[in-house]
Amino acid sequence: MKVQRFSKIGFIMAAAGSAVGLGNIWKFPYMTGEYGGGAFVLVYLVTIAFIGFSVMVAEMLIGALGRKDTVSCFEELASPKKKWWKYAGFMGFNGIIIMTFYSVVIGWILYYIFLIFSGLPQTTQEAKQIFNDLVSHQILAQIFFHTVSVIIVGYVVYRGIKGGIEKINLILMPALMIILFGLLLYAFSLDGFAKAFAFMFEPKWEKLNSEAFVRAVGHSFFTLSLGMGAIMTYAASLPKEASITKTAFIVTFMDTLIALVAGLVIFSFLFQFGAKPGQGPGLVFISLPTILHNFGTLGTFFALLFFLALAFAGLTSAVSLVEPVVQYLIDRFCMSRTKAVILISFIYWLIGIAALLSYTQAWGKVFSFFGKPLFDLLEYTTDSILLPLGGFAIVIFVGYVLQKERVKAHINRPGEMNDLFYKIWLFSIRYIAPVALIFMMLNLMGVIKL
Ligand code: TRP
Repeated sequence: MKVQRFSKIGFIMAAAGSAVGLGNIWKFPYMTGEYGGGAFVLVYLVTIAFIGFSVMVAEMLIGALGRKDTVSCFEELASPKKKWWKYAGFMGFNGIIIMTFYSVVIGWILYYIFLIFSGLPQTTQEAKQIFNDLVSHQILAQIFFHTVSVIIVGYVVYRGIKGGIEKINLILMPALMIILFGLLLYAFSLDGFAKAFAFMFEPKWEKLNSEAFVRAVGHSFFTLSLGMGAIMTYAASLPKEASITKTAFIVTFMDTLIALVAGLVIFSFLFQFGAKPGQGPGLVFISLPTILHNFGTLGTFFALLFFLALAFAGLTSAVSLVEPVVQYLIDRFCMSRTKAVILISFIYWLIGIAALLSYTQAWGKVFSFFGKPLFDLLEYTTDSILLPLGGFAIVIFVGYVLQKERVKAHINRPGEMNDLFYKIWLFSIRYIAPVALIFMMLNLMGVIKL
């Protein structure tokens, strides 16, 4: 039995905290840079509006109706003959796989926060060296900061929905927004801002290849925390009077806004000093610190604020990745929260170490499989296979398996959607989202090329 419930604002902040993460501030800008800007952003925005939002409503609905861990939600809501749907609930375990590398990246961010105090790198060369040295040689430092991240996340989840998750989100989310919007205000004053704006919003269609397209669709799922049961688990503690439609709308809006603001801030700084946008994952770890060095003391201050915001975003997402499995162990195995947290934390802490070792020079070979470092394999499997698969299960379940009257009674009532909006949503869940997801998976498996 769940006794704790979020407050209304607590739920919005927690869901937004889950969605707004490294995906927004680290991944979105570098992907936009790599795939050439405008056209990529447009595909991302269209997918969010037409698929992401609908899927979020569907995922929240399962949680709000089921009111339990992900496995029990599917099991209870399925008709007696279809109880095997409970296996879809194991999507929650995906969170643990994501956490193996997510926590390592949070570790890098924490390391950078300390690093900033000893000054920013002066040249790109130096910045590259610092990042590469950390990733390929600094085993102990990485394990240390990864451990710190595991402990912080574990502590918050251990404190539970109200005292832990709601609290951290109510503090860190506003802090994150203040920092990012503050940086945006400064970015307005730079010449680089106009260039950043043009880069992000003028679509250059020739740059949009099929890979960019699929990545944009995939990223829209990742950034909204969909397809893994995180939003579902939070929605199980949704306050009774809250509107799913409104909450999903606010969360989608905030998530998108923050990704765009982060992109504008980063590209304004980069373009101000003529740096190139397509730097890959090293963008915020290599290019940004070097560029900020040009701003003198102010730059150091900005860098500190930026990495703090990044850490806040990462931590509030991380708790949502761990909570579903913890909830599962509590609900299904009557485990105490403390035990569940320790067990789960230990597992992803350990695999996380293997993941970080797979990037190091000394151990890279040992922890590589099929010619790829474990880190990349974990990221690829979750991002490209398990999340779309989970999303597919959710839309099929809500679109076809759940009793239609039940869905309608909840989503098509006052405070939720009107008739027209409801019909469009249902169409999106039943047809648009499944087709898009199938296309995406086939494309990734190389069966079809767009
Ligand atoms: N959305 C987060 C980000 O943008 C990551 C995340 C948190 C997530 N919970 C999730 C991704 C659940 C997929 C599923 O960084």
